[in-house]
Amino acid sequence: MRILCIGDVVSRIGRDMLFKYVDDLKYGTNIDLVIANAENSNHGRGMTRRGYDEMKSAGVDLFTLGNHTWGAKDIIDILDSEDDVIRPLNFPGAVPGRGIAVVNTASGIPVGVVNLIGQTNMAPCNSPFEAAQRAVKELSEKVRIIIVDFHAEVTSEKVAMGYFLDGKVSAVFGTHTHIQTSDSKILPNGTGYITDLGMTGPADSILGMNKNIIIKRFLTGMPQKFEIAGGKGQFCGCVFTIDEETGRCTNTERLLIYE
Ligand SMILES: [Fe+2]
Ligand SMILES: [Fe+2]
Repeated sequence: MRILCIGDVVSRIGRDMLFKYVDDLKYGTNIDLVIANAENSNHGRGMTRRGYDEMKSAGVDLFTLGNHTWGAKDIIDILDSEDDVIRPLNFPGAVPGRGIAVVNTASGIPVGVVNLIGQTNMAPCNSPFEAAQRAVKELSEKVRIIIVDFHAEVTSEKVAMGYFLDGKVSAVFGTHTHIQTSDSKILPNGTGYITDLGMTGPADSILGMNKNIIIKRFLTGMPQKFEIAGGKGQFCGCVFTIDEETGRCTNTERLLIYE
């Protein structure tokens, strides 16, 4: 089975990139399941109903989120009504939605997906490691293939999660930094891993934002109103090939496509 995981979709430009590439990849390279991180799909902040509908029609099967989960108010209704959108499992307190989903591929194979958020340089949350352990225990009774989106800032925490879950899940991919790392690999016990998928959004930008505004902020230290960048897009992701019998990853392919 081949699972395409797409890094943080940013704004209209990111959503357009899904229309340009997901179908071709899905049918041209035999992808069985498409997972996308949608935390910035609404103009950089959160996800709207319209964005959800668009990205579904572009071919995404399941959405994960992150620290921008609550950035657009539609998300409350979306989390209530849709089974294919999950938010970080280890958010503190009683919040809407779920952090775990089981989706069936077109050929009827169930895949468990877990969304976690990091603790280092992020807002307070419960331990992602303890949450991962509980999620794996729960899902292992139902599915052979488990995919984890770990939405975190620092590389050390992400690599630690990869090794912590090595041999227990099929793949761990990182999101949030918007810069793709070149370390996609198979860990010693068979888990596919990449520290960050990168961003699907405006290519000529600083993490999706207008570059001049961010540079001005660094030059002056004065607060600036962020704006989403325009221009051409980029598509970032990774395809994990998973052995359906064992649940082990057999190949990883990084994707970074400039328009
Ligand atoms: Fe993001
Ligand atoms: Fe984020």
